[in-house]
Amino acid sequence: RPVNQDYYLEQPIVSATGMRQGLTSYGDAHFSLFLRKVFIKALGYSEDALSRPIIGIINTGSGFNPCHGNAHQLMDAAKRGIHLQGGIAIDFPTISLHEGFSHPTSMFLRNLMSMDTEEMIRAQPVDACIMIGGCDKTVPAQIMGGISANKPILPLLTGPMMPGSHRGKRIGACTDCRNNWASYRAGSIDMEEIMEMNEELAPTIGTCGVMGTASTMACITAALGLMPLQGASAPAVSAARLRIAEQTGQMAVAAAQHQKCPQRVLSVESFYNAAIVLQAIGGSTNAMVHLMAIVNRHPDIKGTITLKTLDQIGRTTPLLVDLKPSGDNYMTDFHNAGGMLCLLHRKSPFRDFEYSRTIIRTLDNPLYASSALIVVRGNIAPDGAVIKAAASKDKRLLYHKGPAVVFENPRDLALRLDDPNLDVSEESVLVLKGIGPIGNPGMPEAGMIPIPRKLAVRGVTDMLRISDGRMSGTAGGTIVLHVSPESAIPDSPFGVIQTGDIIEFNAERRILRLDVDSAELLARLAQRKLQIEGDGGSTWKDRETRRGYRGLYERTVNQAHEGADFAFLTATGS
Ligand code: FES
Ligand code: MG
Repeated sequence: RPVNQDYYLEQPIVSATGMRQGLTSYGDAHFSLFLRKVFIKALGYSEDALSRPIIGIINTGSGFNPCHGNAHQLMDAAKRGIHLQGGIAIDFPTISLHEGFSHPTSMFLRNLMSMDTEEMIRAQPVDACIMIGGCDKTVPAQIMGGISANKPILPLLTGPMMPGSHRGKRIGACTDCRNNWASYRAGSIDMEEIMEMNEELAPTIGTCGVMGTASTMACITAALGLMPLQGASAPAVSAARLRIAEQTGQMAVAAAQHQKCPQRVLSVESFYNAAIVLQAIGGSTNAMVHLMAIVNRHPDIKGTITLKTLDQIGRTTPLLVDLKPSGDNYMTDFHNAGGMLCLLHRKSPFRDFEYSRTIIRTLDNPLYASSALIVVRGNIAPDGAVIKAAASKDKRLLYHKGPAVVFENPRDLALRLDDPNLDVSEESVLVLKGIGPIGNPGMPEAGMIPIPRKLAVRGVTDMLRISDGRMSGTAGGTIVLHVSPESAIPDSPFGVIQTGDIIEFNAERRILRLDVDSAELLARLAQRKLQIEGDGGSTWKDRETRRGYRGLYERTVNQAHEGADFAFLTATGS
């Protein structure tokens, strides 16, 4: 489907309203405008400047966010573009989230950032708004908020970091952080070497340089038609990245004049494009959650695109992009191979050259034939669960039946996983409960359950693992995630799995089943419901009285298949 890149093609339908927006505070509109100008003029603006389309720029630069380390340069370049086009640029901050500095998880704070973004876009007199973001949760948060505010929004991404160099080999965050740390723990890399790597895994500012969540969301944003295609991959430290910023500034003025509001610009087809790209890049499982949250902010599309849609699109979409963690390369390679422009034109070769075919495969030579990401269902996941089948290390596990070894929560897992007496074999199915949106607020990336030590030392590298949590977009294995409804909910069938129960998983048939008859399942559910609702110590009970943002989160977050958004933030219908 044609990607929406037509900001310049239409004539303006309305002129920008600038300073006149939202003048309701005092009842007297003229006085409101008068006062507003009094204050903004304190910054030195002239009447002429203030009569131009006002383009807000959300600055998410922060000393704790190296992924956004170029925010100031991007802002300067975007301002140049805005001014060249006759607009006036005014920047303002919102919160900034980095994966490493967002305790307890960045996902816990994503909805907060989306609220900040939505309300500040709405509160201030901007005709259009450029949103500088990049790190995993920031781009979805901004798009979610931007769609709800429904003023013209233009994501401006910070771009991927460069790969580093270690003893003649390229390395990069974060796939190589995990692999090499595992080697260090196994004794094949010593302390000196791992410390050398610590200096090179993130050698420049910018987002993680593999196809993790940040890069996945960047490609999806381009596929949605919200930014220039190059914006998905140009390195954070490149001149190309600054030119994209300048271009975004120019586009923002046009988008303001045309009132290109996201609820109008984004169609069902835009989301089909996003889903095709998600599958073709073998993107992060996290993007499934974010995409559902974004869809459900759109009043006309909510309910139309579901997890089922994403799965169906996967059945006819090959995985073409050979990047870590599914493949071997880095985002800079994707960019040099032609990036999104090349990927989207794979059906009709365009800017194609031999080098690009090794990074962005052709349709007759895919990395994985179809269904890189799949959605499974069954009596323990009636609302679905997600697995990146393409990242399975032992493909035989995609069709597997075995006895469950259940861990009730991450603490239980930490206590027992490496116990030499744990009754577990490579046929076992490891089940981790209690890491869903409510159960462990923020749905931590703990879904990649480590292989029990006694099996790992025997050379077992993959097992079927199931949880209601997430895993990092840079990780791999036969790992079923996002089981919905999560175990913390009293009537969650996932919550009643017991050690020894037989679990059947069939990727081809999209099945995840517990081999326990329904009468037994219902009896267990009834008993568990009584227990949880009577238990003062459960998250489920405590959330009713918990204070602050955490209380709001636990009381209102919806389930993974809906996007783990706050229910009250989703669209209420057209
Ligand atoms: Fe920011 Fe990976 S930590 S993108
Ligand atoms: Mg990540």
